[in-house]
Amino acid sequence: MCGIIGATGRSDVAELLVEGLERLEYRGYDSAGLVLSGPGSLWRVRAAEGTTSVGALRTLAADAPDATTGLGHTRWATHGQPAVENAHPLFDCTGRVGVVHNGIIENHAELQADLLAAGHTMASATDTEVLAHLIEAHMASGLGLAESVRAALGEVRGSFSIAVVSADEPDLLVAARRNTPLILGLTDGAALLASDIPALLGRTERLFVLSDDQLAELRPGSIRVTTLDGRAVDPPALSVDWDLAAAQKGGYDDFMSKEIREQPRAVADTLLDRRRPDGRLALDEARLTDAELRSITRVHIVACGSSYHAALLARFAIEHWARVAADVEIASEFRYREPVLDPEALAVGVSQSGESLDTLLALREARERGARVLGVTNVVDSSIAREADGVLYTRAGPEICVAATKTLLAQIVALDLLALTLAQVRETRSPSEISATLDALQRLPAALEEVLSRAKEVDDVAAALAASRDFFFIGRNVGYPVALEGALKLKELSYLHAEGYPAGELKHGPIALLEPGSVVIGIATRNPLWEKFRANIAEVKSRGATVVLVANDGDEAAEELADHVLWVPEAEHLLSPVLDIVPLQLFAYRLARRHGLDVDRPRNLAKTVTVE
Ligand code: G6P
Repeated sequence: MCGIIGATGRSDVAELLVEGLERLEYRGYDSAGLVLSGPGSLWRVRAAEGTTSVGALRTLAADAPDATTGLGHTRWATHGQPAVENAHPLFDCTGRVGVVHNGIIENHAELQADLLAAGHTMASATDTEVLAHLIEAHMASGLGLAESVRAALGEVRGSFSIAVVSADEPDLLVAARRNTPLILGLTDGAALLASDIPALLGRTERLFVLSDDQLAELRPGSIRVTTLDGRAVDPPALSVDWDLAAAQKGGYDDFMSKEIREQPRAVADTLLDRRRPDGRLALDEARLTDAELRSITRVHIVACGSSYHAALLARFAIEHWARVAADVEIASEFRYREPVLDPEALAVGVSQSGESLDTLLALREARERGARVLGVTNVVDSSIAREADGVLYTRAGPEICVAATKTLLAQIVALDLLALTLAQVRETRSPSEISATLDALQRLPAALEEVLSRAKEVDDVAAALAASRDFFFIGRNVGYPVALEGALKLKELSYLHAEGYPAGELKHGPIALLEPGSVVIGIATRNPLWEKFRANIAEVKSRGATVVLVANDGDEAAEELADHVLWVPEAEHLLSPVLDIVPLQLFAYRLARRHGLDVDRPRNLAKTVTVE
């Protein structure tokens, strides 16, 4: 999604903005631009060259004039195709107001009609441009930049984080947000803003969160925050425990291989210090008392993308260990179907970024309907972390590759901890059973190391299947979410047709698609349905498909059935997905690399999806 960076009071502003944009590239984007403000005029460069646009800007920025204030933007197209004229910053008619925006202005068509009728001319097909013209109109009526932005935002509907510069007040940056993230940074003599943390890492430790419906005025060395209706507020400080090194490649070819490699640590850190001295589990940040946990009648989990797959696995864990009914729903569907929740329900939003707008809005809906809300996220002080009643942090460190890997594994174990905590309080499992499962969780990092040491075998399978075009991932029970994740990874990274399916359902449709050349990847690690699953594999084999199985070490039956086997060590049935997913990540990674694709920044995708 769109990324924003801004600075005032910096003599190296052009370099700072380009570097900030490079750090924001991971969010996914298709064009980029920057604007510098000087007395009397704005200087702008833009490029629409897909994921090389920031590189193009770096070259263009070599001609930048002296300036100390400016804004940069990476755009992920919503309204208006990726093209230079639609890239931000967008200007008003006079070229004296520059706006960058993340989000969607929902009433832009009406506003545009009014502005055109009043004599404005539009230079882009974006929803954002109306903001520049509204601000222009308010400035023309005598208001300063900050008040003009405030007035303009009073006229728009939708979601936004915006930042604005004007040639009339060249040292000033004005920023505001509603439903999409924006953080502020302060140093002696400068002030900074960005849409997310990596862009400001290492620049300052004085970071603040801008909350919904607030406006910030940034001047060299000072920040003033007010609500959109004009009340002064102190923005809360943002605590960040990531360092710049963690957000850099550190010698790896790409972020994806680094992050896959970091999975044992991500899982170990997420499990760290969760037991009290008396051996009982305690999820302190979750802020759920034992009485509250005991009274929960149903758990509703909402999420998108890979986080949804973690949620599907959590349903098995919660129902099996804690015997509480659990529903899982795609966040973008949840809020629009009038869900029925009672005050004893617990709504859990799973989101690595803590900013996916669909998940955030689904949790708001759940809260309005009376549920307690728990966020499971990797980003401290993210919107979901701040809005939820409690939070369970995954401790995976920054994830830069668009496709989720280490955060997913961390989410799975974090949700296991939630399920076990529920089981402990509700006494559906004995302390010794819970303790044994915690021990089994603690053994996962070592088992993950073992799986990662077999990357070469996965690469051999990827080499053998490099020409294949159709992939079906199938699994049963906990193998089904694993199959969904395997298919998603392959789609995201390789742009190949891949479907995840419950194996038992294959015969109700997709089996018609199978023919020699199709590849079926089955999750065949031991689970209660392994025998039945074997019959499903026989069905696909007899249609001529090539069969790859993810199977436990020493499983001779799997070896006999499959054309290729991806071996993993055996783990407890509910914990096995943490291991089974890894060869599928490696498979998608190796196949994408073989096809010469950019694994970190797949086309059309965004890391953090801040539009509905
Ligand atoms: C995007 C990313 C996925 C991610 C999903 C949910 O689609 O490309 O990797 O799983 O958003 O993101 P969240 O931050 O809510 O987990």
